Amino acid sequence: MNYLDRSLAQKKALMEAGHARILAIETSCDETACAIVEDGRRTLAAAVASQIDMHALYGGVVPEIASRMHVEALCPVVEQTLKEAGMGFADPDAIAVTYGPGLVGALLTGVSYAKALAWALGKPLVPVHHIEGHVSANYLACPDLAPPFCCLVVSGGHSHIVQVERYGHYTLLGQTTDDAAGEAFDKVARVLGLPYPGGPLLDKLAEEGDEYAYAFPRIRTQGRYDYSFSGLKTAVVNAAHNLRQSGEAVRAADFAASFRRAVVDALVDKAVAAALDHGMHTIALAGGVASNRLLRRELARVAGAKGLDVRMPPPRLCTDNAEMIASAAFFRLMAGETATLSLNAQPSCRLPEGQTVRDRP
Ligand code: KG4
Ligand code: ZN
Repeated sequence: MNYLDRSLAQKKALMEAGHARILAIETSCDETACAIVEDGRRTLAAAVASQIDMHALYGGVVPEIASRMHVEALCPVVEQTLKEAGMGFADPDAIAVTYGPGLVGALLTGVSYAKALAWALGKPLVPVHHIEGHVSANYLACPDLAPPFCCLVVSGGHSHIVQVERYGHYTLLGQTTDDAAGEAFDKVARVLGLPYPGGPLLDKLAEEGDEYAYAFPRIRTQGRYDYSFSGLKTAVVNAAHNLRQSGEAVRAADFAASFRRAVVDALVDKAVAAALDHGMHTIALAGGVASNRLLRRELARVAGAKGLDVRMPPPRLCTDNAEMIASAAFFRLMAGETATLSLNAQPSCRLPEGQTVRDRP
């Protein structure tokens, strides 16, 4: 039997059974990750090789270095994951991979590896959008969570408010019109002299600071649920330069705390308004910035006070990982959505909205 027939037969059997153990690969940025997850909810094994120490030398992710490091790390990371799960290559039921968005070279390493694995084993290949993966981290953390719900997705490249209508069905309610929240955190952290990626370090520093010490502008946007962080970022960077030029010290902890408060207030206010206006009872949080301590506290406080059920993954599942990709892939697979071997990396694809039938064999 050729690959198409074998993988289609396997997909049909899995859909009928309603069960699947999926091996997923994530290489969209600077983490080489692999995981095996059962039925979208239960992690059997997971491994991550982080490149952060290497990119920190350059103050940010160097795409060419990222691609090369993924190539080196992929085989050992997949083998480590299989070993931890007590499985051989033939045991997972399907192969999933992040096809975008992200760095094109980095994505291509994972997509090529996943295609080769799927082809060699005759298993269905499930393509996953990176943001859908972040949203799905909540299914791993909260086994009883089911759509509909609203999700605030905040990462290094995205700040989205998404309504999850059904598994795999999304409506984008709002997004940033310029910088992502993570990008703004990293930029301000750099001005404070913190190494890349500065977001988590700025967050830690802010815990010691007075968030009312510096008055930074609140963000303004046309769209009710949209974000814009570039004006705030520029104002904060300029404030630091002006203070230094006039010989005044920048009190780093107070500075970090005041900036963090401005970002978090905007994130929480708009996301909670979007959830309430759309009749949602649950709000979830996702993406690297979802590790932010103030964001977690404030979302729980503000959304909780409005009667919303608040869900968030532990920090380990907020940053890039393959468990979230495997979880998202399960619901795609059960809907019959798989890719052919013509699957390509898509560095700047939009989150699939509504019913999507993509590259279905
Ligand atoms: O989701 P992620 O791991 O990668 C992307 O898909 O972009 O997000 C990484 C981003 C970085 O900008 C990082 O600085 C930020 O998430 N981040 C944080 C925190 N932890 C990670 N930003 C603020 N506070 C944190 N605790
Ligand atoms: Zn991410």
